[in-house]
Amino acid sequence: MKKIGVLTSGGDSPGMNAAIRAVVRSSVARGLEVYGIYDGYKGLVEDRMVKLTRFSVSDMIIKGGTMLGSARLPEFKEPEIIDKAVDILKNRGIDGLVVVGGDGTFRGAQALSERGIACIALPGTIDNDIAATEYSIGFDTALQTVIENVDKLRDTSSSHHRCSVIEVMGNRCGDLALYSGITTGAEIIITSDSEFKLETVIEKLNYFDLVKQKNHAIVIISEKITDVYQLAKEISKQTGFSGRATVLGHIQRGGSPTAFDRLLATRMGDKAVERIVEGFKSECICLVNNEIVAVDINEALNTPEPNRKQLVELHERLV
Ligand code: F6P
Repeated sequence: MKKIGVLTSGGDSPGMNAAIRAVVRSSVARGLEVYGIYDGYKGLVEDRMVKLTRFSVSDMIIKGGTMLGSARLPEFKEPEIIDKAVDILKNRGIDGLVVVGGDGTFRGAQALSERGIACIALPGTIDNDIAATEYSIGFDTALQTVIENVDKLRDTSSSHHRCSVIEVMGNRCGDLALYSGITTGAEIIITSDSEFKLETVIEKLNYFDLVKQKNHAIVIISEKITDVYQLAKEISKQTGFSGRATVLGHIQRGGSPTAFDRLLATRMGDKAVERIVEGFKSECICLVNNEIVAVDINEALNTPEPNRKQLVELHERLV
């Protein structure tokens, strides 16, 4: 193994740069040449890449976004497109890849490894929806961003006897909503695992207002569940709180990574290079019981979602 490539794919996440840095520095330390591939699988099939040195990644550990760019390429499952990528890698003498991204990125890695390219995938997504790892790179930073914003909304909501409805990302995974809801003391948390009923939300808010005498309420809701602006209007109509909606949106994807994400990305990036050098061909790097471990990609993609029942019950007990 002489040359490897590294790419970031799918929605970016804070800590991707720290992962690229770790892959590059770890490769150089082990005597490998490393190529940075631009814009994920899209740049790969367009043969856009550059040789990286240890200096190419200077200062990158602190930066949000991804220095290589990222893209979604849904076609990267069609056999002719995968074959094209394999040809490009073979022509360049690159026989291993480290890819950083979410489940779509993992599926691309799986397809390439089936055609003989060694692929090690790192979970990089703010959604935390790769069940095989306890945390994905970027989740902790996004969570911190959500918390900072919810705390601010709480201040103004308290001044005006308001209910803030705050929509967070997660792409059908409720972790950002659940973790931020617990850590900000939100009154109501709604994810795709909890049944959403307008009547229940109204009933709970009236209880917080009239019985618990709260002067504000926070509702944190995962994206893709309901129209939060409409929900805020109903809250104004049917409760004593005036409702206001805030969609946090892409602000959750930016920012300098937290210490947790920097360390996670650094440990995972180094482990990925170690596994490539040792000859492993189709794995993803995961955090399990605070240990960095390698898991077969097929197994990782088929790991069932963790049950968050205990966290949901904890929130309900303390609210
Ligand atoms: O997967 C990361 C994510 O930010 C999701 O939380 C969100 O649903 C999606 O990407 C948004 O995608 P885009 O940046 O393409 O609008």
